[in-house]
Amino acid sequence: MHNLTLIKGDGIGPEISEAVLKIIESAGVEINWDIQTAGAEVAELEGVPLPQRVINSVKKNKVALKSPVTTPIGKGFRSVNVQLRKELDLYANLRPCYNLPNIKTRYDNVDIVVVRENTEDLYAGIERQIDNDTAESIKRITRSASERIAKFAFEYALKNNRKFVTVVTKANICKLSDGLFLDSAREVAKNYDLPLKEILVDNCCMQLVQNPNQFDVLLLPNLYGDIVSDLCAGLIGGLGVAQGANIGNDYAVFEPVHGSAPDIAGQNKANPTAMLMSAIEMLNYIGEENAGNRIKQALFQTLCDNVKTADLGGNATCTEFTDEIIKRLNY
Ligand code: NAI
Repeated sequence: MHNLTLIKGDGIGPEISEAVLKIIESAGVEINWDIQTAGAEVAELEGVPLPQRVINSVKKNKVALKSPVTTPIGKGFRSVNVQLRKELDLYANLRPCYNLPNIKTRYDNVDIVVVRENTEDLYAGIERQIDNDTAESIKRITRSASERIAKFAFEYALKNNRKFVTVVTKANICKLSDGLFLDSAREVAKNYDLPLKEILVDNCCMQLVQNPNQFDVLLLPNLYGDIVSDLCAGLIGGLGVAQGANIGNDYAVFEPVHGSAPDIAGQNKANPTAMLMSAIEMLNYIGEENAGNRIKQALFQTLCDNVKTADLGGNATCTEFTDEIIKRLNY
């Protein structure tokens, strides 16, 4: 029996969480879930969107599965996601991005791993209003955070038989901040027998759209990592299928790349694949590889049998898609 935390999120969060828990349970993995809530409704009830109880639960259980939480745009509380990653020092955001079967995409054989620094950059939340017409955000980059994420990227590349790492910056313009990130990657690369390639983020986006197969592991500071992850999600069928994990030295939180999708929330339209793929990585992480593989096979078979949610051009609801995966678990 595993003790794990589930952060249920809002928007489509509850629907996809329910789907994923049902699939994991049907695969026979015994998990004692500590179900935690966070976000706007929680802020109204408890005064803060990310209460200490959520942090404590992840600290106790070490591993969490999380669905998205809405962040008010241009006002209101700071992102629960950013806070959680900072509080738990989940410094590495890992987003493997590869084609799934029978999902029509522009390119075949996409296989990119995005490694995004998760704790600083413009996400440090250092902003100030100078006057009514002027605001500033500080882009904070440190050598220690840059070196540890570069080390993470190289270690990941080595363990997973990847061929090279590409560091992505805008060091021609942000000479000090991105320059430091780039310099840290160069220093770390000296300790590894793998090549480090360098590219500017604007060119990287163009190259990704024109020829994604040229990339392997991408190493990026926080903001570029966020944007490029969504671009990569678009290459493999969209946000509905893009998995992710936030990893630190002590804790790990697995969550899809996508947000709370308020435009389709509560309509049983959400694709649970991104959250399920994240959960499969979580199962691997806690030593339940067999169950993870069985679920992946059932998911892939479901897609191959052309059962798909609307975002992938199908007409299955979230519930129907989930039930079809469960049916194929025991084939
Ligand atoms: P979003 O990722 O929620 O949605 C973008 C588009 O993709 C929408 O059209 C949505 O319907 C679609 N989509 C996303 N996930 C889907 C799924 N599983 N199945 C089918 N379609 C899906 O991005 P958006 O609209 O920019 O952000 C909404 C909220 O989510 C914001 O408050 C944002 O801050 C928050 N957010 C939270 C994240 C997290 O909790 N880790 C990550 C990204 C955004």
